[in-house]
Amino acid sequence: MPETTPSDAGAPHSSPAAARQSVISLDHVSLTLESGAGPVNILKDINFAVTTGETVGIVGPSGSGKSSLMSLMTGLEQATTGDVTVDGLSLTGADEDRLARHRLSRVGIVMQAFHLIPTMTALENVAVPLELARVNDAFDRAAHELDAVGLAHRMDHYPAQLSGGEQQRVALARALAPEPSILFGDEPTGNLDGQTGRAIIDLIFDLSAKRQSTLVLVTHDPALADRCDRVISMADGRIIDDTGDTRAVADDGSTLLNKVGRP
Ligand SMILES: Nc1ncnc2c1ncn2[C@@H]1O[C@H](COP(=O)(O)OP(=O)(O)O)[C@@H](O)[C@H]1O
Ligand SMILES: [Mg+2]
Repeated sequence: MPETTPSDAGAPHSSPAAARQSVISLDHVSLTLESGAGPVNILKDINFAVTTGETVGIVGPSGSGKSSLMSLMTGLEQATTGDVTVDGLSLTGADEDRLARHRLSRVGIVMQAFHLIPTMTALENVAVPLELARVNDAFDRAAHELDAVGLAHRMDHYPAQLSGGEQQRVALARALAPEPSILFGDEPTGNLDGQTGRAIIDLIFDLSAKRQSTLVLVTHDPALADRCDRVISMADGRIIDDTGDTRAVADDGSTLLNKVGRP
């Protein structure tokens, strides 16, 4: 097993007790950003907890706050109020260095745009973030991950030499390479045609199930949301529906109660 730095080790997520615990919890979270016209309340009183291994779809109209919510969970954005805990790390108040390490090694992220580095081969695109996360055998691991997404024969190709579907496979291999406990996808098929998109989705579900990782998928595709264990619906910066379990045990053993949809 390749090693990550000890300081990156989050809460254990392989023990039976941990399997019942929440791997993500948001408690009275809001996000307010400044704009030219003054402050904008982008997310309002968001509460939910995700259990290890769950697959969660986040749906809602454009502008409802789905990507902003994901930015909070991946540590790209800090909550204005409330607490966000992901894989044992409280992101609220964590310094930039800690958040950067969280993004590098604890969570995997696949976006609509592939965000590959054009001057690097597929292999380098996957291996370089692993090297940054101080994984010892970065190139071996990267080759293994590219094989897992069906790109063993394309490792030395540059992004411009790959189709959209192949580029997204590279991005998926890069996201999964650090063996994150959570995979986040933000409209990962948005730039792909229907058939290619479905193949990517199959791969995302298949690989995250094999690795027993938690999957959080932002999508406006109802068919895709239906494949998830649970669907969280957003509108105007709030959660308006959540089909998931209403209770989850937080890392400190306390119970978070999701009151969404209840009086
Ligand atoms: N940096 C920002 N500054 C101000 N407003 C923003 C910023 N980022 C997003 N927004 C606004 O926040 C709202 C939610 O955006 P977003 O999270 O991207 O929604 P979605 O992903 O559901 O389409 C939108 O009204 C958007 O215009
Ligand atoms: Mg979005």
